[in-house]
Amino acid sequence: MCGIVGYVGYRNSQDILISGLRKLEYRGYDSAGVAVFTNAGLEVKKAKGRLAVLESHLEERPLNGGIGIGHTRWATHGKPSDVNSHPHTDTSSKFSVVHNGIIENYLELKEELAAAGAKFVSETDTEVISHLIASLYEGDIVKAVQKAVKRMRGAFALGVLTEHEPEKLVAVRLASPLIIGVGEGENFIGSDIPAILEYTRNVYILNDGEMAVLTKNDVTLMTMEGNVISREMFHVDWDLVTAEKAGFDSFMLKEIHEQPKAYRDTMGSRIADGRVVLKEIGLSADQLKQVERVHIVACGTAYHAGLVGKSVIEKLVRIPVETDVASEYRYRDPIITPNTLVIVVSQSGETADTLAALREAKRCGARVLAITNVVGSSVAREADDVITTWAGPEIAVASTKAYTSQLIAFYLFGLYMAQELGIRDSAYIAEVIAALEQLPEQVQAILERAEDMKVYAEQVAKHNSLFFIGRGLDYAVALEGSLKLKEISYIHSEAYAAGELKHGTLALIEDDIPVIALATQGELIEKTVSNIKEVTARGGYVYGFVFEGDEGEMAKSVNHVFAIPRTLPLLAPALSVIPLQLLSYYASLARGNDVDKPRNLAKSVTVE
Ligand code: G6P
Repeated sequence: MCGIVGYVGYRNSQDILISGLRKLEYRGYDSAGVAVFTNAGLEVKKAKGRLAVLESHLEERPLNGGIGIGHTRWATHGKPSDVNSHPHTDTSSKFSVVHNGIIENYLELKEELAAAGAKFVSETDTEVISHLIASLYEGDIVKAVQKAVKRMRGAFALGVLTEHEPEKLVAVRLASPLIIGVGEGENFIGSDIPAILEYTRNVYILNDGEMAVLTKNDVTLMTMEGNVISREMFHVDWDLVTAEKAGFDSFMLKEIHEQPKAYRDTMGSRIADGRVVLKEIGLSADQLKQVERVHIVACGTAYHAGLVGKSVIEKLVRIPVETDVASEYRYRDPIITPNTLVIVVSQSGETADTLAALREAKRCGARVLAITNVVGSSVAREADDVITTWAGPEIAVASTKAYTSQLIAFYLFGLYMAQELGIRDSAYIAEVIAALEQLPEQVQAILERAEDMKVYAEQVAKHNSLFFIGRGLDYAVALEGSLKLKEISYIHSEAYAAGELKHGTLALIEDDIPVIALATQGELIEKTVSNIKEVTARGGYVYGFVFEGDEGEMAKSVNHVFAIPRTLPLLAPALSVIPLQLLSYYASLARGNDVDKPRNLAKSVTVE
């Protein structure tokens, strides 16, 4: 999703903007651009395609100057094109704007501004902002931006420059993330911290409804009404190197291999003496007792983690849990009472639909627990309680270590509830914890057999369609395996509850169609094997995934078997998803795709 960078200081801004945009590439984009004050005034250069295209234009004709804004665009209003790329300017080319988000009333504003003489050149909602600010300018850019924001409806983060006040950079945040980096004789804005981390570790995180005015030597934070805000500076203590590839061919492969560490870090000090300790959440045993039902709400891969979370909490705590896609939750009039605990799951903590669901849940009086990977993210700040997944920065668009860390967070929370409410005895809790603690090593053992998945992937990559099947928790993992494959290999696949195949989908099984079958769930294994036989009888080519010890039996029914280290069936998703991540990764490679930046997708989706 769109990325914003801005710079004001003593260095050449073009270089800083490009290096910042490079760090934001992972968010997904289809075009890029910069605006810089040069001796000739406010100059803009933008281009459809990868950042390299923009860079080649800048090499031909550099834009030299100490203040500028840059942007990577992920098209919403208007197709990806040079002219629709940001920054956008007004008719006089004296104002320049970069924007992340959506202006809902842009058509209305556009008509009004066009009637007053503004000349529009793009199809975007963003261009309206530059014309609007220009029309409201009376010698003070801060006031003009404040007035403009009052007229705009929607979710946005902005970076604004004007040639009339060439020493100032104005930043605004309303529902799309924006941070301010503070340096010595230079200041920065960015959609997230990695964009500016090379230059400073001192950061202000803007809240919704706040703005900042940056000059070379000063940063002023204020409300949209102009009231100055004093805020403690946030010191970033993690390293950029952790956000870089560390010798792996892609971020995705690196992140897949970081999972043993992510499991360990997420469990960390939350396990002590066979018990779960969740000091960070303020839910007392009395409050937990009041919880009558749980709603889990998330998008994409995080939603799939929520499906596992549902089974985990229902099994451990025996209270009803519903899992919803966030974009549906808010509009389906869910029954939320003060005794509903709403768990929102989000790697980035900035996904617009998830954030909207969180706000709706709070409006209805529910207590909200967030599971998120980004400390200080919007979701983290607005939830009542937070369990941080310590997966570290996840850069590849396809989520891997964040998903599995979310599973660990669900195991910990389910166990915690069961333990605090006395639903499970201490021996049972200790047994599950002991199995949890084995997981990092077991993941490592699977990673060491990555080559097997490469072989499967090279076969699978020759097909245009395949199926994933499983029952119970295996079905939840099948959904995630199928999503992963679609995201990065662009091979069509469907995940089915194995027992449901015969009610229609079996019609699609024909000779050699690959079927990935998961069978780790105790008494359900036999039933899944029957479903596998229905598939092989119709020519399907089946890859079976089972626990070690079950491979001999499974080999009788499938074409290939991959055995994962044995754990409790409840914990199986944390292991069985690993080979599926590798399968997608190698299938994507076999097809020559850009693994980390799949077409049409964004890492952080900050529009509804
Ligand atoms: C995007 C990403 C997915 C991710 C989803 C939810 O669609 O491409 O990988 O699962 O957003 O993101 P979140 O940050 O809320 O977990």
